Amino acid sequence: MTAKIELHLHIEGAAPPALARELAARKGVDTSGMFAEGGGYAWTDFTDFLRAYDRVAALFATPEDHRQLAEAVLRECAAHGVIYAELAISSDHVAEGDSVRFAEYLAAITEGAEAARAATGIEANFIATTIRHLGPDRAVHAARLAVACDHPRVVGLGLAGDERVFHPADFAPAFEIAREGGLKLTAHAGEACGADSVRAAMDALKLDRVDHGVRAIEDPALLARILDERIHLATCPGSNVALGSFPDWRSHPIAPFRALGVSASVSTDDPPFFATDMDREYVELTAAFGWGEAEFAAIARDALDGAFCDAGTKAALAAKL
Ligand code: ADE
Ligand code: ZN
Repeated sequence: MTAKIELHLHIEGAAPPALARELAARKGVDTSGMFAEGGGYAWTDFTDFLRAYDRVAALFATPEDHRQLAEAVLRECAAHGVIYAELAISSDHVAEGDSVRFAEYLAAITEGAEAARAATGIEANFIATTIRHLGPDRAVHAARLAVACDHPRVVGLGLAGDERVFHPADFAPAFEIAREGGLKLTAHAGEACGADSVRAAMDALKLDRVDHGVRAIEDPALLARILDERIHLATCPGSNVALGSFPDWRSHPIAPFRALGVSASVSTDDPPFFATDMDREYVELTAAFGWGEAEFAAIARDALDGAFCDAGTKAALAAKL
């Protein structure tokens, strides 16, 4: 089976439910309503998903919690054939502008990533991802922390959270700090809102790639620009179907994107929230579009092209694809 590249995976959103349960029990945290019947996490709609996400994230508080989380998440990725992952990490969730706490956090998740690499060979980097609904001031703090930490695995700045609030231009100062500090840039757009939201994010934030970006399918001129500027879309079909952006897998725009020549890859976003993993994504895409080895190999090459790792890492990964 083709090796897989995962560019869009939120570390807390990927927390294995068994680990979350164990931590909650150890800490005496009430988990009523946290878990769904199928074994994942419970939520009802996009707003409630963001709330449920924060509740799970809050379970992970100490460096040891975060070390365990990083190792568990990356081992899980490797078990589904992923050879390289870019994890969205959030200083908003763990350090709130405190550089010492952020450095401790990075040391802990790096230790976890190294343990996962020793066990499975998986490579990983981190994207410092600020939370849109916490506002532009917090984003500036997050960008400053991400640049100042000067950590080899922190390769980019991202923007997640509630796309329906604020305007991308509000976050331009944060993204400017990150760009000047040498970080690559990505942002969630075109997930909960339409094509205009993708265009506005590209205009204001000078993105290297877009997380989701799927509603760009509604706007041919924007699609032409995405092609022209070679913007990579890190799409998450299972997440979009679960959250209701598209009614089913066959309606997901990854197929028309790829038919048009847009560089678009497959990631899982927050697997236990959306009853997915990389193997399920591939199975569902095969069922929906008849894709096989050739299509998935091309997707992995595009993902590597859109990855934020250095050229040496890209060459080593390319040799494994
Ligand atoms: N944070 C984690 N997953 C997210 C998603 N799909 N959209 C916005 N923010 C998120
Ligand atoms: Zn996401």
